[in-house]
Order: sequence, then C-alpha cells, then structure tokens
Amino acid sequence: MHIPVLIGLALMAADPSYFHDVRPILQRNCQGCHQPAVKQGNLDLTSFEGLAKGGGRGAAIPLLVDYVTGKREPRMPLGMNPLAAEQIELIRLWVTAGGKDDTPAEAKERISSDKPLVYYQPPLINALAYSPDGSLLAVSGYREILLHKADGSGAAGRLAGVSDRIDSLLFARDGKTLVAAGGTPARFGEVQVWDVSTRKLVRSIMVGGDTLFGASLSPDGTQVAVGCTDNTLRVIEVATGKELLRVSHHENWVLATVWGVNGKRIVSVGRDRAAKLTDAANGQFIENVNLLRGELSAVARHPARDFVVIGGEDRVPYYYRMDRPRVMKIADDSTLIRKLEIQSGVILALAFSADGSRLAVAGAGDEVRLYNTETGERLAALKGHRAGVYAVAFAPDGTRTATGGFDGTVRIYEAASGNMVKEFIPVQLEKKLLSSKQE
Ligand code: HEC
Repeated sequence: MHIPVLIGLALMAADPSYFHDVRPILQRNCQGCHQPAVKQGNLDLTSFEGLAKGGGRGAAIPLLVDYVTGKREPRMPLGMNPLAAEQIELIRLWVTAGGKDDTPAEAKERISSDKPLVYYQPPLINALAYSPDGSLLAVSGYREILLHKADGSGAAGRLAGVSDRIDSLLFARDGKTLVAAGGTPARFGEVQVWDVSTRKLVRSIMVGGDTLFGASLSPDGTQVAVGCTDNTLRVIEVATGKELLRVSHHENWVLATVWGVNGKRIVSVGRDRAAKLTDAANGQFIENVNLLRGELSAVARHPARDFVVIGGEDRVPYYYRMDRPRVMKIADDSTLIRKLEIQSGVILALAFSADGSRLAVAGAGDEVRLYNTETGERLAALKGHRAGVYAVAFAPDGTRTATGGFDGTVRIYEAASGNMVKEFIPVQLEKKLLSSKQE
C-alpha cells in the first residue's frame, strides 16, 4: 500500500463525515442514476433523507457497503468501474460509526431537490437555446433549465436536475431532445438528456470532478463533445453515457467545442489560446487552426461550411477555415479568412444565424454586435445589458436574437434593427423572508 493511502486512511478513521466525505462520492458516482428525476431502484442518493429512506429494499445505509463491494449484486455504480478502495473504506467507516447526518442546516434547504427552487435574485444565465421549431427558448437557471415561450410571453416548464450550473444547452435537430451540460464546481460534471415533450430527464451522465464547459452536439445528435477543467476534450455517446474519446492535447481548460459539418472533426478552444482540430473518430490531433494570441472562450461554426469563428481575451473575433488552403507551415495564419473589429470587452459567446449570413459577438463589452459574415460589416448593436453577456442565440428563422448573462435578464431583439422587443427575468422572484430570528 502506498504511504499516502495509509495516511489517508488514518485521517479518515478519525471521523468520517457524511457531508464532507461520503456525499461527494455519491454525487460523483451515483446520483446520475439515483436522483429525484431518475430514481433507479427507487433510490435518491442526492440527500441524506433519500439515503436513509432507501429504495425498494428499504433503508440504503446498511446496504451501501455490500452494493459498492459487489457482495450484493448488481455491484454499484452499475456498469462502471468499482469505487476506489479508499472510497469504499470511507463509506464503511462512516456506516460503522452510525451513519450520522452532519449536513449543515443551511445546506439542507439548498440541497433538497424535490421541491421547486425559490429565487431571491435572478440566476446568472450561462446558456440559451431556441428549439428548432422556434417555439421554445431554453434558459439556464440555478440547478435547473427554464423553458420559456420563444417570444418571451411566459414560462413553459422547469427541468430540475442536480447540477448547480448549466453551461450549455443544445437541442437535437429533431427538437425532441434537449442536451444540457454543466455540473457543480469542484464536485462533478454532468451531461443531462431531456425529453422535450414530456419534460422528463431521460439520462444523467456524470463526467469527471468539475463543471463541464462549451458542449456541442455532433450533427446527427448521437454524440456530445465537452470541455473539461482537467484540460481534456471528451466525447460522450448520448444514448448510453459511454465516454468514446478523452483527448489531452490542450494545455489548459477547454472552454468551448464545435463539430465540423460532417461530424468527422471537432474544433476545441480554451485557456491555452489554441483552437485545436481533432479527428472525432479516433481523437487524433490534426493541427492548430489558429495562431496563438489570447485565451479563447468561444467558438461557433458556420451552419453549412467548415468555417469557425473564435474569440476570447484579446477581444477580436477571428474567422477561420478548418482546412488549410495550402501546405501547412508552422505558425502560419493562412487559414484566417477575416478578423472582425475589436470589441469593447472580452468575447464570451458567439453564434451564427441559421442561414450563416450573420454572426453575433457577445461578452464583457457594453453591447452585443451583429455582423455580416461575408463582409465583416457591423449590422446592429444590441444594447441594454448591465453586465457581461454569456449567451447569445438566433431564433431559427433569423428574425430574433436572444441574449443573457450576469444580470440574469433575457433580452430579445429584432435581429435586423437591433431594437429590443422583450426583456424578462426567467424566474419568479420571491421577496427575501424576514429573518427567522424574529419568530
Ligand atoms: C448507471 C446507473 C447506476 C449508477 C451509476 C448507480 N446505480 Fe445503484 N442502482 C441502479 C439500478 C438500476 C438499481 C436497481 C438494481 C436492481 O434492483 O436490480 C440500483 C440499485 C441500488 C441500490 C439498491 C436499492 C434498493 O433498495 O433496491 C443501492 C443501495 C444502490 N443502487 C446504490 C448505489 C450507489 C452507492 C451508487 C454509487 C456508488 C450507485 N448505486 C450507482 C443503477 C445505478
């Protein structure tokens, strides 16, 4: 046994905590299948109450160790690698010590996921997506996705999951499936697969130990690419949750991804300033699309061509082709089609209109700008934000552009003129309760 493991066990033996030790293990390895929205074995492992109540076989605490060691079958986590010996030992010690709940009272309220969340202030908006038929606008909330009628006239559903943060929202082309990616920082990453018509969670796929960024769907909707803070780009099969690819050619966080038109290649960008082209079949690195400048946080692909726009720290949107027109030279920028004007803030989100004719550039600046893709000419400026814009999307018919960001307000603009037609907070805000000390 390695010395660090021995030290680890010695520390654990002191006093394993449900909240600090056991719960993170269950979150990362178990809640994909055992949460209020997908209760396999009729078991919810997201809270102590759920664990104590148990599933079909009654209280789960006495069963935990047997299931994770495989003494009881099927071994948990079902169909995945067994938990590490240290994790099993930690659970065993906690159970043996009486399986006590030490969740702080204030966290309890926050954790209980079976009642709808109450908001006292608008949640940050990290992602926005129009349904392909143009009827719905999906907006990221806090630990849920908020569905709204696309014209902003009212709410159309709440999709509650376990991830605190939703960073990407992607409708499959047929409009039946909504894929979300995000996670809870420093705890777990998650891909959620929702059935849009029934508003039910079909699958929750736990991925790694931190929030996922910049997810994109393959054109056929069968695979999702995600960026990770362990510097990897991963590809996951939507139908099974299986990890198909994990590639490590980035040297820092991967923040955004996009697939080529035919689904055979992926472009990923991140803090290492590179836009990397990867073969989606085998994960092989093909080449850097760009010349390195500032850190990159956004990428979008032209709807019909293998052209991508990238942007980030240096505030300039660069429009590149994925393929080099002639033999590659190192540090050659021959793939650059056009540089657009410098923005007034860091670039955080990019989107093309469905016909590819227009391009939206959003970020920390004071306005979101729309450009003519072919000429680079600025067509409109969308105003009204009080802070950074993290998400921008064109309606499928191209007439509207929606934005959202730090101020928690969705704004809908007429794309041609840039005039705002609607502005709303996507959740109902409750007045802060008076201090309970008065009771
Ligand atoms: C991929 C899905 C999946 C994952 C991940 C998973 N489980 Fe399960 N779990 C199931 C299914 C399905 C059942 C029902 C199995 C049966 O009864 O045959 C089940 C049943 C159980 C039961 C028995 C519930 C009862 O009362 O019948 C326990 C306890 C359990 N799981 C614990 C865990 C723990 C702990 C983890 C993480 C270490 C975990 N599971 C991860 C799918 C999963």
